[in-house]
Amino acid sequence: MGLSIVILAAGAGSRMRSKTPKVLHKIAGKEMIFYILREAKKLSDDIKVVLFHDRDRIKEAIESSFENIEFITQDHKNYPGTGGALRGIEYRYENVLILNGDMPLITASSLEEFVKTKEEFVLSVISVDPPNSYGKVVIKDDKVVRIVEQKDATKEIENLKSVNGGVYYLKREFLDKYIPKLKNNNAQKEYYLTDVVEMAIKDKIVVTPLFLPHEIYRGVNSKGDLSVAEEIMLKRVRAKWQDSGVSMRMPETIYIEDGVRFEGECYLENSTSFYGDSIIKESTIKCGTTIEDAKISNSTLGPYARVRGGCEIEDSTIGNFVETKKALLKGVKAGHLSYLGDCEIGARTNIGAGTITCNYDGKSKYKTIIGKDVFVGSDTQFVAPVNIEDRVIIAAGTTVTKDAKSGSLVISRGKDREIEGFYDSFFRSNSLES
Ligand code: UD1
Ligand code: CA
Repeated sequence: MGLSIVILAAGAGSRMRSKTPKVLHKIAGKEMIFYILREAKKLSDDIKVVLFHDRDRIKEAIESSFENIEFITQDHKNYPGTGGALRGIEYRYENVLILNGDMPLITASSLEEFVKTKEEFVLSVISVDPPNSYGKVVIKDDKVVRIVEQKDATKEIENLKSVNGGVYYLKREFLDKYIPKLKNNNAQKEYYLTDVVEMAIKDKIVVTPLFLPHEIYRGVNSKGDLSVAEEIMLKRVRAKWQDSGVSMRMPETIYIEDGVRFEGECYLENSTSFYGDSIIKESTIKCGTTIEDAKISNSTLGPYARVRGGCEIEDSTIGNFVETKKALLKGVKAGHLSYLGDCEIGARTNIGAGTITCNYDGKSKYKTIIGKDVFVGSDTQFVAPVNIEDRVIIAAGTTVTKDAKSGSLVISRGKDREIEGFYDSFFRSNSLES
C-alpha cells in the first residue's frame, strides 16, 4: 500500500522575524525541513513539498540532501493559507499524509500510527497547556467535530487543551472534493486546511482523533519555539550516543549536531560542542572544547581546545587554548596556547607553549610540515611554507623561516643583556615614590 506525503512549507513564517525562511532555521545543525524529509522518506516514495516564499532558496537547500522530491508552487496571492497550499495537487496514492513544514521533531515511527488506524480520516491531536497558537479541536464521542483557529476562537473554545498537531491522514478523494470548496471567511482571510475537517464531518465522514505526544508534534512558530525544539532534539541525540557507549558529564551542557558520529568508548566533559561531520573515536574531550568537522581518534583534547575543519588528530594530546585547523597530527603533544593551522606534524613531536604556525601572508595560505621526534621550544613561530625534518630541536623563542634538516638545532634569538642596578635608578628618576 503506497502513501503520498505532502509537506507544507510555503508560509511567510512572519512570527520568526527573520530573513531566513522558517523551514530553513536549524536545530542541532540541520534545517527543520531536513528532519521532516528524512523521516518522510522512510515511509513514502511520493513526497511533495509546497513552496512559495523563498521558493528557490528552500528548494536548493532540500536538493543538497535529498533526491526525488516534487516541488509545488502555491498560488499564494489568490489562495493563501494551509488549504490554499493544497490546491491542484495530484496524488500518486489513495492515502495521503499531510504535514506542516515546521514540526522538526516528528518521527517515522510516530507517523506510522496514522496508517495503522486504518481509518479514512485521522487528525493528530496533542494536549497543550496553555494551548496558544494552535488550532483547538472540539471532540465529542471520540470523534472530531470541529477545529477552531486561535484567532477565530471564542473564550470558551480558546481554553480547550486538545489542539491540532498539524498532521492529517486521509483519502485523496476527500482532498479532491473539499479543497476547491474552501472559503476564506475567517479572521486571517486565508484558506484553512482545517476547514476540510468540518466539511467532511458534514458529509458524515468520521474524523478520528489520534492522540499524540507534544514532544514529537511541536510546531515551531517563533525563535523561542525553535530553541525548545532544539533542546528536545539534542536530548535525543545525546541519548542515542549514550546508548552506544559515550559517557557524558553534565549532558545538558553538551551540544552535539545531528551529523556527528562517535565510535568506541568516548568521554565527554561538560560544555563541549561537536559540529558538522565530525567523527570521534575512543577519545576524551575535556570541558569547553569545540570540535568542527574533524576526525579525532585515541586522543585527549582540552580543556578549552578549538579543533576546526579538516583536522585529523590521532594518538595525540591537545591542551588548553590550542586552536587547530586543517592539521594532521599523529602522536603529537601540544599542551598549551598554540595555533596549528595548515600543518602536518609527526609522531612523538612536542609542540611547546605559544607555538604559532604563521600560515597566512594576507593573500594565501601556506603549509608547515614538521617531522617525527621534533622538539619545538615555547614561543616558536613557523613562517610557512616551511618543512622541518625528523629529529630537529627548535630553541624557545625561534622564528623559523627556513627548512631544517634532520639532526639540527634551529635557534634565532637576540643576545640577552643584563644592566645591573637599572631597576633602582629607573624608578628613582621616574619618581614613583613621591
Ligand atoms: C496550523 C493549523 C493549526 C495547528 C498548527 C499545528 C491551519 C489553518 N492551522 O496553524 O490548526 O494547530 O498548524 O502546528 O492549518 N503554509 C503554507 N502556505 C500558506 C500558509 C502556511 O504552505 O499559505 C505552511 C507553513 O509554511 C507551515 C505550515 O503550513 O509550514 C503551517 O502554517 P502556520 O502558519 O505555521 O500554521 P499555524 O498557525 O501554526
Ligand atoms: Ca505552525
